[in-house]
Amino acid sequence: MRSVLSVATKPFDGQKPGTSGLRKKVKVFEQPHYLENFVQSVFDVLRAETPEGFADKTLVVGGDGRYHNRQAIGAILKMAAAQGFGRVLVGAKGILSTPAVSCVIRKHKAFGGFVLSASHNPGGPSEDFGIKYNNGSGAPAPEKLTEAVFARTGTIAEYRILDAEAPSIEALGKFQLGATAVEVIDPVADYADLMAQLFDFARIQAWFKAGHRIAFDAMSAVTGPYAVEILENRLGAAKGSVMNEVPLEDFGGHHPDPNLVHAHELVELMNGQNAPDLGAASDGDGDRNMILGRRFFVTPSDSLAVIAEHATVAPGYAQGLKGVARSMPTSGAVDLVAKALNIPCFETPTGWKFFGNLLDDGKASLCGEESFGTGSDHVREKDGLWAVLMWLNILAVRGQSVAQLVEAHWKRFGRTFYTRHDWEAIPTDIADKLMADLRTALPGLPGKTIAGLPVTGADDFAYTDPVDGSVSAKQGVRVLFGDGARMVFRLSGTGTEGATLRVYFERLVADLGKHGADTQVMLSDLIAAAEELAGIMLRTGRDKPTVIT
Ligand code: G1P
Ligand code: ZN
Repeated sequence: MRSVLSVATKPFDGQKPGTSGLRKKVKVFEQPHYLENFVQSVFDVLRAETPEGFADKTLVVGGDGRYHNRQAIGAILKMAAAQGFGRVLVGAKGILSTPAVSCVIRKHKAFGGFVLSASHNPGGPSEDFGIKYNNGSGAPAPEKLTEAVFARTGTIAEYRILDAEAPSIEALGKFQLGATAVEVIDPVADYADLMAQLFDFARIQAWFKAGHRIAFDAMSAVTGPYAVEILENRLGAAKGSVMNEVPLEDFGGHHPDPNLVHAHELVELMNGQNAPDLGAASDGDGDRNMILGRRFFVTPSDSLAVIAEHATVAPGYAQGLKGVARSMPTSGAVDLVAKALNIPCFETPTGWKFFGNLLDDGKASLCGEESFGTGSDHVREKDGLWAVLMWLNILAVRGQSVAQLVEAHWKRFGRTFYTRHDWEAIPTDIADKLMADLRTALPGLPGKTIAGLPVTGADDFAYTDPVDGSVSAKQGVRVLFGDGARMVFRLSGTGTEGATLRVYFERLVADLGKHGADTQVMLSDLIAAAEELAGIMLRTGRDKPTVIT
């Protein structure tokens, strides 16, 4: 039997871990004991609420393949063995997309799992790394747990690790590590099987056979192997349909975020001659998605609404949706579909964690965020490839193009023009003052006119969870102008440098004659109103947002 080492360590300055866990530069994670401290803190908290111990429990481990992934996994395996876990399932080569971790946890009834990723942030020796813990439902640890972990990181004095070499995780196999059985699993199989249950693979195969095409950009991140197996091998899309399909430790130096700026290779292809029917991309860890038609960008808010409209074409949703949920800054397009379907529509604060209770409780079966996140009750993470397969299923059954589907949707429900302006890395004090001033101004806004637009309502969004009654306040300042026009101001909770101010604009237009109009032009009066109200340029000294989506 290998011996367990107790390594003396000191409390560390862990960032207050939200449900996205601990995200830092690789250099920080490379400090001695840093990752181990976090992992031990998680184990200590879990152990305190698990009197029976971990001997009959399974832990899942995998990541998006970025730099430091293998090293972190080696340490976690030895630490899980030192804790006495019965079994650890680890993705071969350390690969498991975030939705796949959620899927594997649920399928194998695991106790929980570690996801190693910094999502869409760049990877490499001088870039980002991250780790988070997901519980037995496959969802990111709830705040109660992450707060307990954070408290523990402030008092930790030692961690336990098996005095052994970690087994190779390069190929499938089973190993014994102390008393723990380590199984290196195919990272794709369980996930691909789940997708085959949810979607009509036969219809999609027939669609590809009929000559339809897809371009999927894996952005040199984790979804490559998943997309090749599902799209090319199982569904028969032409070889080469998946671009940048090999996960690289530095994502090829790219920013693996599926938006019009970072997925420019795909965007050029979809705007060019001979563009395929569907263009799609996913992010570093596989939970985000972008959907494109030929010379046609589908906003994530519209994508959610179109999916809600057509979801019953997929076998997994044929019984109908129980309800839908969207984050507050996501456009109201899906609300109109929910109303037509006569199902509830929930508006939650930003962040996937707020959907968990609604999904668990059967109140919603489809949810989405404007930030390229879409998913359902099949796992407890947003799921990039799932969204792509849903679109494929809809295209295959409806026999229309992406643009035709979205235009038909606009015709029926009206079109919600939508844009998000991000002001990144602004000094924290300036951002905080801006938000504080907005909040002070809120009560006086209704009835006022800003940049010629009469304000009909204004508030700081607060959410009461309909399942557990918990209240989340101060989730973003909303200014409403009537007729489905509004703007929202909030500060990012995920930025790593200074503060990021996000300003969201939308307007519902029923008049089809305006369809060709440019989004920024359609929303220019709202954009002017934001400047008049908040003085963003004045305060930051900048003349335009960093990113416009
Ligand atoms: C951003 C997105 C949000 C998403 C989160 C994690 O958070 O806006 O919708 O859930 O990333 O992917 P933010 O930086 O706005 O706090
Ligand atoms: Zn992600």
